[in-house]
Amino acid sequence: MSEPQNTDPFYVTTAISYPNGRPHIGHAYEAIAADVIARFQRLQGRDVRFQTGTDEHGLKMARKAEEQGRTARELADEMSRYFQDMCDALNVKYDRFIRTVEDDHHRASQAIWQAMEAKGDLYLDRYEGWYSVRDEAYYDESELKEGEGGEKLSPQSTPVEWTVEESWFFRLSKYQDQLLDLLRTPGFLEPASRRNEMIAFVEGGLRDLSVSRTSFDWGVKVPGSDNHVMYVWVDALTNYLTGLGYPDKTGDYAKYWPADLHLIGKDIVRFHTIYWPAFLMSADLPTPKRVFGHGFLLARGGEKMSKSAGNVVDPIELAETFGVEPLRYFLLREVAFGQDGSYSPEAIVNRANAELANSFGNLAQRTLSMIAKNMDGVLENVALTDVDEALLSQVRAAAADGLPNAFHDLAFSVGIEEWIKAVYACNQYVDEQAPWTLRKTDPERMKAVLLTLFMALRDLGIAIQPVVPERAAALLDQLGIPADERAYANLSDAQWYARLVESGFTVGKPTPIFPRLELPEGEGAE
Ligand code: MSP
Repeated sequence: MSEPQNTDPFYVTTAISYPNGRPHIGHAYEAIAADVIARFQRLQGRDVRFQTGTDEHGLKMARKAEEQGRTARELADEMSRYFQDMCDALNVKYDRFIRTVEDDHHRASQAIWQAMEAKGDLYLDRYEGWYSVRDEAYYDESELKEGEGGEKLSPQSTPVEWTVEESWFFRLSKYQDQLLDLLRTPGFLEPASRRNEMIAFVEGGLRDLSVSRTSFDWGVKVPGSDNHVMYVWVDALTNYLTGLGYPDKTGDYAKYWPADLHLIGKDIVRFHTIYWPAFLMSADLPTPKRVFGHGFLLARGGEKMSKSAGNVVDPIELAETFGVEPLRYFLLREVAFGQDGSYSPEAIVNRANAELANSFGNLAQRTLSMIAKNMDGVLENVALTDVDEALLSQVRAAAADGLPNAFHDLAFSVGIEEWIKAVYACNQYVDEQAPWTLRKTDPERMKAVLLTLFMALRDLGIAIQPVVPERAAALLDQLGIPADERAYANLSDAQWYARLVESGFTVGKPTPIFPRLELPEGEGAE
């Protein structure tokens, strides 16, 4: 008997990106991963809410706009649009794209501020210390390192500037013990290496955090302190609540908070697992259930992408060149989630051709064309042998357990590996059974082989939907699988084939689901 489905709400978020320039492949990587999780959880029966957006305040935005001789709002309006376009182009289906300039976000940020103030956790003082505009982060002298010219740099190697100004402070130090408990809670922060790093940071002693600025005004106004704007991370982190209607605690907030998963990059784990939980504790709000700090996607040869190195990759262009779905597949398949990985055009082409076109696509194409040609597309009830059943159980194990269990742990590359191994097993089975020979020698046996492959394709198609939703749908359409029978729970439905045969569905001449890719000219290895 299959287990009862968990239909609970599931709230997943990405970081909200700084729209100080156009999105790059690193932003696309995170958005795609979150979209895959959202689709995966929906297929598991969960009531999913998925939020992404742009983080538009702060000194970094203000300075960039100034450099360009325009207002921060103009810069944000233009660039935020590109992030939305990127989501559309990559088939990233969010429920809300939040912009922190929106009115409801200002209201939510002021509400959490007032809750922290009411708790007695905010006080006015003077900040004197180092600030990195690039990271929008304060650093302690002891964290800094020296650059080549002897200049001080942040731990992320970004420039820091000495800052002196009146500021509101948040009593972060008060939450030290509670934060340690939270960080030690199994499953709260992954991967484990990031957890150890954060625990060490908190154990080293927390200093109160400067949470407002007076030297510029591009931000959310501090309630009752009109010359202060909130430190950009205070408002940025609050976006996760804004999207649920906070400070109203009914409706979506009641349903979806605390978040099931904040998906973020490894560089901003401190903000999400120390500052954010502390703000929430102070405001008497529950802390998120899980934070995952994924690795970085680097350019060819493992170099960091930067405008100055000229190796920034536009994800929309990449999707246009290679196709959205091969790109989505590549990003999750190639790099172990949580670790850094690198991208290159030949790696995409090789991966997509070897696995999607030559293995999965070819399996579908040859199975369906043989059914269309040799059986007039008519599905029948024929008896299967032990060999057929063995293949089907292997496929079922990958589709119903291997891939979903790994995806649940965000081990995408492991899940896809399980899946592709089942595809390879099907191809090996076709070669061994040689249905093209059986056609003449034993037509009944040929039918059993093709039926087995047809069944395998359905399970493989259902399982891979989160990663390649459109191409999987195109396959499932060709297999005649009704749209409401494509959830993971349907994998354990023993009656589906009988219903399909009864419906009189016939397999038509198939169209390839994954055509082979060519490496564009001039994109070869250097
Ligand atoms: N605005 C903050 C996040 C606020 S969340 C309340 C920010 N913005 S960002 O634009 O710099 O980064 C957005 C996300 O993209 C972050 O999770 C970051 O780690 C991720 N990435 C940025 N560059 C990346 C790669 N090269 N590779 C993978 N992810 C990368 O931080």
